[in-house]
Amino acid sequence: MPLKDRKVIVTGGPTREWLDPVRFISNPSSGRMGVAIAEEAANRGSETVFIHGPISRELIDRAEYRCVGIQTTVELLDAVKKELTQNTVLIMAAAPADYTPVQKSDVKIKKTGDELTIHLKKNPDILKTIAAMKQANFSLKNIFMVGFAAETNDIEKYALGKLKEKDLDMICLNDVGQKDAGFSVDTNIITIFTRQGEKMELPLQSKQDVAARILDCVETGLTRMGTTLITE
Ligand code: PMT
Repeated sequence: MPLKDRKVIVTGGPTREWLDPVRFISNPSSGRMGVAIAEEAANRGSETVFIHGPISRELIDRAEYRCVGIQTTVELLDAVKKELTQNTVLIMAAAPADYTPVQKSDVKIKKTGDELTIHLKKNPDILKTIAAMKQANFSLKNIFMVGFAAETNDIEKYALGKLKEKDLDMICLNDVGQKDAGFSVDTNIITIFTRQGEKMELPLQSKQDVAARILDCVETGLTRMGTTLITE
């Protein structure tokens, strides 16, 4: 089933979890992987929405798809929920922070003792939340979910665990410990695993080429689902 019949939501970039007005917890995601997927989806004719954390403006200056900016993981979840429709493909290339400060100070935290303890609490898991919504609502059963797994050790074990726990149709294992792969570079090394047990290795290549291969797999998955589009 071609992607042009589907709405595609792509997420990309980091989130920021603010400690005080001038400091935050984040990670080095540049948004380039997400942008490459959004561009490819739009080129294939799908209605594409790119929901992104703080990334360089230049990356999306000429975007031919809709862009929605967010800062925190909770905002990312809210934005994804707002865009979700019955026949959506959701591709989560973003790197949302798993934890957020228990308290955000309204004023700059002052330098006092030699140590500073910050208490963090778990953020919601976006993919798990959407998977639960699919379970609870029959009209959302057609949503096709693709996750990423950014791993540094026991990479296949953790990726397959996330595929199952988050009830995904596909997961893109990103071995971020390898040179020229993962965060803040133009290339990537990915292994795709599907719900059906398939495995496809994508050696070092541009993020644009990786995006095309990922969307080829999504189209195969949609054809296999064989479901007719749900219309109201
Ligand atoms: O942006 P770039 O510089 O191009 O780098 C690309 C990338 C390395 C960020 C990207 O390829 C990538 O691997 N993205 C996933 C990063 C990540 O958060 O991985 P994770 O293994 O911690 O999370 C697993 C999956 O759950 C991901 O799809 C993630 O988006 C999602 N997630 C994570 C946390 C959370 N609270 N909710 C989620 O849904």
